[in-house]
Amino acid sequence: MNQIVRFTIDGIECMAEKNTYMIEAARENGIYIPTLCNYPGIKPKGSCRVCSVKINGRMMTACTTPVTDGMVIENHTPEIDALRKAILELFFVEGNHFCPSCEKGGICELQALAYRYKIMVPRYPFAFPQRDVDATSPLLIKDQNRCILCKRCIRAITDEKGRTIFAYKKRGSRVEIGIDPKLGKELTPETAQKAMDVCPVGALLVREKGFDIPIGERKYDKMPIGSDVEKIISHT
Ligand code: SF4
Ligand code: FES
Repeated sequence: MNQIVRFTIDGIECMAEKNTYMIEAARENGIYIPTLCNYPGIKPKGSCRVCSVKINGRMMTACTTPVTDGMVIENHTPEIDALRKAILELFFVEGNHFCPSCEKGGICELQALAYRYKIMVPRYPFAFPQRDVDATSPLLIKDQNRCILCKRCIRAITDEKGRTIFAYKKRGSRVEIGIDPKLGKELTPETAQKAMDVCPVGALLVREKGFDIPIGERKYDKMPIGSDVEKIISHT
C-alpha cells in the first residue's frame, strides 16, 4: 500500500498518497489551486506559474511539486492572490483576447480565472501584438493571438499513430504553436474537438462550430472555476 503523507494547506489538515502532485492532492482534499498549463493525465510543465504556492515559506509551482510529510503550504493569502492576479493580467495584455466575441467564452479557463480573481482592467499596458491565424487545417483554426503558450496541445494531442500534431516554432518573443502541415490536414473530427477542448483559451477552434452552447449554459456561467473542487469537502 502506498504511504500516506500529512500536510497542511492554509492551516487545513490534509492527507494524500506520497508523491501525489500538490494540485491533485489539494483537489482530493477539497482545495482548489488554480492552474492553466496543467492538464489531468499529462506530465506537468510548470510554465504558466498560476499555481504558485508557498511551501515551507518558499514560492514554488504546485503542479510540479509532489506532497511530502509535514509540508506547510500557503495557497490563498493576499501575497499569493496578488501574484496570481498579476500573472493573469499579463496574459491578457500580452495577447489579444477578445472575450465577448470568442467562441470559448464561458468555457475559457483564462476568462474564468479572471472572473475568479476579479480582474476588471489590467494595470499593465496592452501590447496589441499582430500574430497570424493558421487556417490550413480543414477542421481546425489556430489563432496565435489567443495562445498562452501553455503547451497543453503539444503534450496531449497525437494522431491515431501517436504522432504529435502541434509543436513550438520560431524563437524568443516570436515563439508560436505550429500545426504539422500534413497531419493538420488529416485530423479526424474527434482529434480536432479534443484539441479545442484541451486548449484552455480560444486559440484552437473547430471550424464551423462556434457558439454552440447558449450563453447561460456554458461551463463557467453558473459556477466559478474551482467551485467543483471546493464543494467536494466544506472547510467552513
Ligand atoms: S494553442 Fe492552446 S493549448 Fe496550445 S499552447 Fe496555445 S493556449 Fe496552450
Ligand atoms: S499550472 Fe503550474 S505552472 Fe501552470
